[in-house]
Amino acid sequence: MTSLSLTNFRSYRTLKLTLGRGLTVLAGENAQGKSNLLEAIYLLAIGKSQRAAVERELVSWEAAEAGGYGIVAASVQRADDSVELRLGLDCGGGRANGVVKRIRVNGVPKRASDLVGVLSAVLFSAVDIDLAYGPPQGRRRYLDVLLSQTSRRYVHGLQRYLRVLGQRNAVLRSMREGRAGEDELVVWDPPLCEEGAAVLATRHEAMQRLAPLAAEAFERLAGTGSALSVDYVATVEPIEAGAAPTPEAVAAALERSRRQERAVGMTVVGPHRDDIRLALDGVDLAKHASRGQARLAALALRLAEAQLLHERRGDPPVILLDDILSELDERRRGLVLEEALRYPQVLLTTAELALVPSAGLAEARVLRVADGQVLEEVPA
Ligand SMILES: Nc1ncnc2c1ncn2[C@@H]1O[C@H](COP(=O)(O)OP(=O)(O)OP(=O)(O)O)[C@@H](O)[C@H]1O
Ligand SMILES: [Mg+2]
Repeated sequence: MTSLSLTNFRSYRTLKLTLGRGLTVLAGENAQGKSNLLEAIYLLAIGKSQRAAVERELVSWEAAEAGGYGIVAASVQRADDSVELRLGLDCGGGRANGVVKRIRVNGVPKRASDLVGVLSAVLFSAVDIDLAYGPPQGRRRYLDVLLSQTSRRYVHGLQRYLRVLGQRNAVLRSMREGRAGEDELVVWDPPLCEEGAAVLATRHEAMQRLAPLAAEAFERLAGTGSALSVDYVATVEPIEAGAAPTPEAVAAALERSRRQERAVGMTVVGPHRDDIRLALDGVDLAKHASRGQARLAALALRLAEAQLLHERRGDPPVILLDDILSELDERRRGLVLEEALRYPQVLLTTAELALVPSAGLAEARVLRVADGQVLEEVPA
């Protein structure tokens, strides 16, 4: 990425920034716009915000109030071409609280799902510890965001699966209220099995590579004391052990869950119910690991994500490190930065410049973020 420009995005009115290779440090006090800036870049990478509940939040309050619009734009230099990305959020549609998202790639209008994968990026943030301690949803999202960046087929397949699932669940709810019958349900089973199995196949294949990458990254960060294992926990048993579940396997799992799904009024097996189990030496991480170990496991998952993206996409991802240094000891801060700097472009936010390992800082460009402005830090 060679430049970023923001207009009415969160706390930024206008910002134009050129970005170089190596480490860029964004330093500043709390609530000055450091995370907002990384959020903007990541928004271009995955087509949606990783933290906003509603997209209207992304537009500066002033502009949203006035029915204006927010824009995030960037130039991306890839191995053999350069691309202009632009994502607009228009609050002027007249709908209360509505926002219309418009995306252009090299000036050509695109769907959000077609934006995914043009700029590849990995975001490391302090809330990643939820990958260890939080509910399965966060771990599924981790996989889905990663796989969406590696394969457009996956994005579209997952969307189709979720659509069919929504329809099927609506029928199950109606059945519980006696307003729909068996015949309405069965029409959704074949597409659910097809799309579900396709999602599972991609996840299954990716896990074969992701699990060892995460284990290796954990070992580099934590040392050889204990080993991290990462296993996909499926609600659908494959027919052939060790293989990905086929549509027939999904159908069999549905069959077995008939009583339960009717009782609760929703589909209880399938990729939307799966999880990733993280363990240290075979013991569940969420239950027994120290907070530091959980943090290192989360970092290892992100490093594995970056490596897989790099392998599958060819272009190295932009590494975004949002406030991850403060909970690590000095040695780990050095190791994490060293790992990140294997990639050509790294952006790091911190409230405390002193936390940035000096080896990294010596070569870094330091920007000062204050009150929605970004200024070059003049070395003392
Ligand atoms: N839509 C918006 N319009 C205007 N301001 C916003 C909007 N959304 C968030 N903000 C403001 O942005 C600020 C937070 O910015 P950000 O999360 O980037 O801070 P930060 O520099 O990362 O701080 P910290 O060090 O605490 O993580 C808050 O003060 C918030 O009020
Ligand atoms: Mg922040």
